[in-house]
Amino acid sequence: MSNFRNLLKHSDIIRRNGDVIPRIAKDYFNLLVRRKNVLRKVDIAIIAGCNAKCAFCFATTLEDETGPYLSLDEVKRIITESIALGALTFEFLGGEPLMCKHLDDAIRFAKKSRAVVGVTTNGILLTEKRIRELEQTGLDVIQISLDSMDHKEHDVSRGVPGCYDKIMNAIELIKHTKIQLMLSTVATNENLQNRKLLDVIRFAEQLNVPITVNPASKAGAWRGKENILLTPENRKVFHDLVKTSHARWAGQINFLKEGCPCGKEIIYVTAYGEVIPCAFIQISYGNVRREPMADIWQRLQDHKLVSERTDTCIAALDPKFIQDYINPLDDEKHLPIFIHDHPYYKSGAGA
Ligand SMILES: C[S@@+](CC[C@H](N)C(=O)[O-])C[C@H]1O[C@@H](n2cnc3c(N)ncnc32)[C@H](O)[C@@H]1O
Ligand code: SF4
Repeated sequence: MSNFRNLLKHSDIIRRNGDVIPRIAKDYFNLLVRRKNVLRKVDIAIIAGCNAKCAFCFATTLEDETGPYLSLDEVKRIITESIALGALTFEFLGGEPLMCKHLDDAIRFAKKSRAVVGVTTNGILLTEKRIRELEQTGLDVIQISLDSMDHKEHDVSRGVPGCYDKIMNAIELIKHTKIQLMLSTVATNENLQNRKLLDVIRFAEQLNVPITVNPASKAGAWRGKENILLTPENRKVFHDLVKTSHARWAGQINFLKEGCPCGKEIIYVTAYGEVIPCAFIQISYGNVRREPMADIWQRLQDHKLVSERTDTCIAALDPKFIQDYINPLDDEKHLPIFIHDHPYYKSGAGA
């Protein structure tokens, strides 16, 4: 299996979560024998607000000042219904998940439901006390976003003086807990050309932790900015980089082959319950406040977006997908847009 190497990167987590193994087996049965797409991972934006001001943040267009965030009961229902669809892993993000008052209860519930649970954070609120509290919830993974090894550059990128130092402190502390540390970073034309991305990846190697590398995506604050997309040359450099031992992109830990997992085995639920294929494809297939997850999942599976498999990140690296599905969102007033209202779908081409 081509993804075996990546599965091994997570073998510690799987070992610690032995009770997930029967569900992994069931998912593979549904995939290989019943030939069905199976939901593997759900990203839940548990909050939309944030204590940082990143100039590139995809989440800025997912904020809705009129609606309340998902309640704890709603988050629990998402977890339960997703597990019924096969989900093994939940990742809480946002916005800044550590600002959410019911984050710990949500983690505890997901752990009791026998799932692997992670939090992706800017690290600003990761004090020693907070890390201990998170450890007590049973949290498996803390993924910290790190934009640059140059502390000034990182702080400017996050709009928060002192952010880099807080992260470095948190990294030291997490090393002494049962929580697996991971890093997350963004690949841009700039940091690929000046090779500063390599410094961040080397840091992950020194720590011996996995690092998720997200290719720059024209979503949120970068919406409409064509020039932030990786050039064809840098797309190639990106793909070479994520072959190195510690680096990976979201499409490398799939059930089967490497490829874009969005909508096929991963979904993202916004802080208001909209289900989108991934954070960077801000097209809704339904709202969990109005419909069961199973119905929304089926709508997603029935759509062409999901049936066409691709070996790269469609949202950031596939020019045809970007032209058909992402560019029409540049001037959209309200995101995420419902799939049936998307101009490409309405034209009949994407139906
Ligand atoms: C929106 S943040 C939410 C969690 C938390 N606030 C954080 O920054 O880690 C999730 C991840 O997406 C990355 N990200 C945000 N906007 C992006 C964009 N336009 N393109 C690629 N990655 C992006 C961030 O760097 C971060 O690692
Ligand atoms: S990337 Fe994360 S830390 Fe930065 S503004 Fe967005 S949600 Fe906040």
